[in-house]
Amino acid sequence: MALILGIESSCDETAAAVIDSDGASLATRVVAQIIASQDEAHRPYGGVVPEIAARAHVEVLSPLIGRVLAQAGLRLDQMDAIAATAGPGLIGGVMVGLVTGKALAMAAGKPLIGVNHLEGHALSPRLADPTLDYPYLLLLVSGGHCQILEVRGVGQYRRLATTIDDALGEAFDKTAKILGLGYPGGPAVERLAREGDAKAVPLPRPLLGSAEPHFSFAGLKSAVMRAKLAGVHRDADIAAAFQQAAIDCVIDRLRGAIVRTSGMTALVVAGGVAANQALRGALETSANEAGLRLVAPPLMLCTDNAAMIGWAGAERLALGLIDPLDMAARPRWPLDAAAEAVRGAGVKG
Ligand code: KG4
Ligand code: ZN
Repeated sequence: MALILGIESSCDETAAAVIDSDGASLATRVVAQIIASQDEAHRPYGGVVPEIAARAHVEVLSPLIGRVLAQAGLRLDQMDAIAATAGPGLIGGVMVGLVTGKALAMAAGKPLIGVNHLEGHALSPRLADPTLDYPYLLLLVSGGHCQILEVRGVGQYRRLATTIDDALGEAFDKTAKILGLGYPGGPAVERLAREGDAKAVPLPRPLLGSAEPHFSFAGLKSAVMRAKLAGVHRDADIAAAFQQAAIDCVIDRLRGAIVRTSGMTALVVAGGVAANQALRGALETSANEAGLRLVAPPLMLCTDNAAMIGWAGAERLALGLIDPLDMAARPRWPLDAAAEAVRGAGVKG
């Protein structure tokens, strides 16, 4: 059995978790987890302010790790490894978590694993569902990323699509801002959309049906802005129309990706936007059509958390993939290094 301390600090959540890789279920695999959200600190600015985030991580992280170990009833020297997010993300925050992880690893004489935050998201469905085998098709949708990847194994990714401008979560957040719904916007847009009529506001579906594999949401966002400024639509209808248009685009891109892969064991969705129930419903239909099982992690594993970092650490440790203590934090770190660079992709973690 391996016990891993996981640390996450790449954006606006400070989180630590203790993972038992041999646990039979999600409940026993995540021995303890504490997530401290910085939403309140960033809310006045309508988005994450990197300097405020980094400072908050510094203040919160060390005591939070102490608390999570106490909650688990375990000591640092009982851990088999320390796994900390090493990128991509807001560099100040990433450095706080990685340096803390290095210090703990050095003090306790334990291996350090520098985890790619995106790999954390990509492997999190395996934490929740031990029956999920490689290779699987992954839709990774968060505030900073919007990608379709073939996950062949730990560290083995083929990118099939990415965004040429905004990430899906970013489009939700900007729509929320336009509608005055505050930050973070995704859950607020989803709530308001439930009261609206998606057909009441005609919105474009960028790249729908095009041979180009990638995503684009900038045009949709501008159309949302125009619909709002027109002053004739209900906000709920705009929210519903936006959400439906965005989902239609995702499903269309996904269909193209499914055609370009074979032998996938499942369609998997991960990242913060995977919390969206309307998206999950559409993915269920799409997976059924393709004869694939849909695996969507529970909501607590969708948004940023440390359990997924600890889990990715456990998968890496099992393969002997540990990192040197002088490992550098990386603001940018694509999962598929061989994929062509695409304008706009991967702004953040
Ligand atoms: O993975 P995550 O917690 O952080 C990043 O690494 O980006 O994702 C956060 C993103 C935000 O853009 C947020 O608005 C979006 O996920 N999100 C949602 C929902 N819950 C979170 N978007 C749509 N519907 C939701 N229910
Ligand atoms: Zn994330």
